[in-house]
Formats: sequence, structure tokens, C-alpha cells
Amino acid sequence: MNGFSDADFDFSFLEEGFAARDIVEKKINEVSLSDDKDAFYVADLGDVLKKHLRWTRALPRVTPFYAVKCNDSKAIVMTLAALGAGFDCASKTEIQLVQSIGVPPQKIIYANPCKQVSQIKYAAAHGVQMMTFDSEVELAKVARSHSNAKLVLRIATDDSKAVCRLSVKFGATLKTSRLLLERAKELGVEIIGVSFHVGSGCTDPETYTQAISDARCVFDMGAELGFNMTLLDIGGGFPGAEDAKLKFEEVTTVINLALDKYFPVDLGINVIAEPGRYYVASAYILAVNIIAKKVVLKENDSDEDDGAKEKTLMYYVNDGVYGSFNCIFFDHAHVKPLLHKKSKPDEKLYSCSIWGPTCDGLDRIVELCEMPDLQVGDWMIFENMGAYTVSASSTFNGFQKPDIHYVMSRPAWKLMQQMKEQGSILPVHDLTANTLPVSCAWESGVELPNTACSSAPIV
Ligand SMILES: Cc1ncc(COP(=O)(O)O)c(C=O)c1O
Repeated sequence: MNGFSDADFDFSFLEEGFAARDIVEKKINEVSLSDDKDAFYVADLGDVLKKHLRWTRALPRVTPFYAVKCNDSKAIVMTLAALGAGFDCASKTEIQLVQSIGVPPQKIIYANPCKQVSQIKYAAAHGVQMMTFDSEVELAKVARSHSNAKLVLRIATDDSKAVCRLSVKFGATLKTSRLLLERAKELGVEIIGVSFHVGSGCTDPETYTQAISDARCVFDMGAELGFNMTLLDIGGGFPGAEDAKLKFEEVTTVINLALDKYFPVDLGINVIAEPGRYYVASAYILAVNIIAKKVVLKENDSDEDDGAKEKTLMYYVNDGVYGSFNCIFFDHAHVKPLLHKKSKPDEKLYSCSIWGPTCDGLDRIVELCEMPDLQVGDWMIFENMGAYTVSASSTFNGFQKPDIHYVMSRPAWKLMQQMKEQGSILPVHDLTANTLPVSCAWESGVELPNTACSSAPIV
């Protein structure tokens, strides 16, 4: 990967003192006098870099293989490739995407335990060897279709406390793992290690401890059968936003202890993970516009005279659950609207609901919240919208996906270039300590000059 160019995607540098949220303001101001108020994202690639630096500090033994499914935007994949991450691909298309930007096959794990035969053959033809499995049928399919495969046995976890459970569908029990290892021996298939996933949105770090301990058992079974296992893949499940129940470092402290206990460094085991949400959730801000509004009067009213109890408001915005807010259904997300306009301290609040633009009654983003009386043309902002949003959205009813404007500060950009050239992480404290400049503009509601960001020809 030689870098990205603004031909690949809409990218601009953040000028000093400005943050991604300022660019949201700037874009809103730019269209304020027009009718063209489509929903849009601003995505801060510097935030992805910050996450990567935080990862390498907190989990120095674990190489991230970013889970492309979480957000398959080319800008994200290119940024992570430049930072030296590997990739977890679930399908031929994801393999094609990461290989199209020059990621070598050794940096790809085909981490889908149930694969279509033609896609296994595609992986074989394109040099992708690492792949997961959890059943005898898959083992036989791979044995027939990919003679150089390096298989990773996915074990089940107790993900009952995770927001999105995965072990209901994938993962072998310890008992089944022994049978699978025996069968692999008969088939002459190479097993290089063990993987697991604690469930996306993990809320109990001890799940990692139990899974790492179970992986140790499977490594021991493998050794008994003569396999030389060298790879432990601890999957995903890491929090992606600061408001998550569990803090990233709380999870990583527990993981490091378990790794040291069950896979001490001197064993020389290669430890990887498949983080998705962690890398991208907080990088994306979505701005949506109110396209329609309904005032619903309460019928059996009342002698209240302040108006606030007499009506509820329904806001219709230009992205919904068939678009970015598919995360409400597929990722169990609870999204919180922020107002673009500063509300006055004594402004009346009303019970409101927020709806997407399609003709489907299911297309409801927020069932009940308190908001002022907003107008058609006003904006709402949603933060932490980078994970399982753009990658699973549709254009149902003909509503197009929001444009994504990528930004990055110049110091972040320079650091990324250095890391790319030197292939190592440099200690740059001002980027890693969450001290990116806080915007003065959006807090005070002033209009930004057009210099808040400048578009970048990048090489
Ligand atoms: C196999 C696999 N790896 C990694 C991930 C990413 O998980 P997360 O976003 O929780 O890090 C997923 C998510 O579904 C997955 O299925």
C-alpha cells in the first residue's frame, strides 16, 4: 500500500485546532441556504490511528486483524493497512477488497467457519491460507478444495453476557474439538491454532479468560495428536466508544493476565485478534436532516396551559433503519440524537419520536426522547456511528447511502506516514492521550471559516 489519494475517497486535512465535529458544522453551514440537505458522515481517520496506538500499548502481544465486516469502507481498510494491521475477511468479496489495496495473503485470515466451496477455492488461488472451521463437514470441504490451508479451530465461548451473541452459531465444544483434531489428523490437514469470539459488545472480561484457558486445553489436545500449533486468535468483542459499559483497558488487563498464564511469551505463540467495533465506532459522526414533522395532539386534554403536555412530535429524518440505523436491529444499538442548534436554557421540551424516511412503519430510530420543537431543515447529530452501520445499510425505497467525508489532522497524517515507512509504532503522546484539540466553534455555535479543513492531494 503506497498511500491513499483523494481519488480513492473524499479526504481533507483538519486544520490546526479543528476536530471532526467542526467539519460537521462547516458542512451544515455550507448547505444552510440550499434545499440540498442530504444526510452525511464525517469520519476521522486520525481516530482510527489513535485507536491503533492505544491497542499497541494495551495489547503489545496481540496483532490486530481488523474485521472488515464491521465497516468495509475503503478508507478504513487503507488506513489500517498503512498501519500494518492484518485483516479478518468473511468472504471472497472482503478478500478481494483487502487484496486490491496490496495486503499480502499472510496478513489475511478467512475467519468464517462456514464457507462456500467456490470461495475456499478463491482463497486457495489467491494465496490466503489461514482460515477457521468448527465442524467435520468444513474440514472435509477444505481438505478437498485447498491443499495448502492452515486451519484454525474455532471454539465456542460463554457469550451469554455479550450484546451480540455469536457462539449460538459458531464454535466447537472442547469435546467436539478433540474429535475434529482426530479427524484432521486422518485427513492430513494442517491445524495451526485456535480461535474464538466472546461475542460482540462483550460486557464481562472474564469471558476472555475462560476462552483463553479453553484454547490452552485445545492446544494441549493438539500436541498429544502431533500438531504443532502456533496461532492463538482471540477474536473481537472490544468496546469501540467511551460510553461503553466496559472500558477497553479493563478488558485488556484481564486478557494480558490470561495470556501470560496460559500462553507465556517464551512459548513463542503468535497471538492475533479480530477487532471490528473497537477501531471504527467512534470515528464516524452522522448528521441527518429533518425532512418532515408531525404534531400529534393529545385528545383527552386537559387544563395544562404550558403546551408541553398537549402535543407530541414526530420527526422524520433522511436516514433510517434500512440505512445507517440498521445497527438498531442488527447490532442492538441504542442511538442518541444530539441537537445541532443550541437549545435555550428555558426552552420547552416535548416527547418526540424519530423516524427514518422509508414508507415502512418499522423504520423508527428513537421511540421516545425529549426534544425542543424543531423545524423541517434542522439537523440532528449522531456520534459513534462507525461500527456495523455503513457496511450493512441498504438503499431500500431508493434512499441513497450518506456520503462520507474523511478527515485527519496533519500530525496524525505525518505519524501514519512515519509508521508506514519505519514499520513501527512511534511514541507520539499528544495523539494518544485523547488530547486532540476540542473544537471551540461547535460549542459556541459560531460559523466556521472555510479553512477548517483543506482538501488534500495525497501521495
Ligand atoms: C469472526 C468475527 N470476528 C470478528 C468480529 C468483530 O467483532 P467486534 O466488532 O465485536 O470486534 C466478528 C463480528 O461479528 C466476527 O464474526
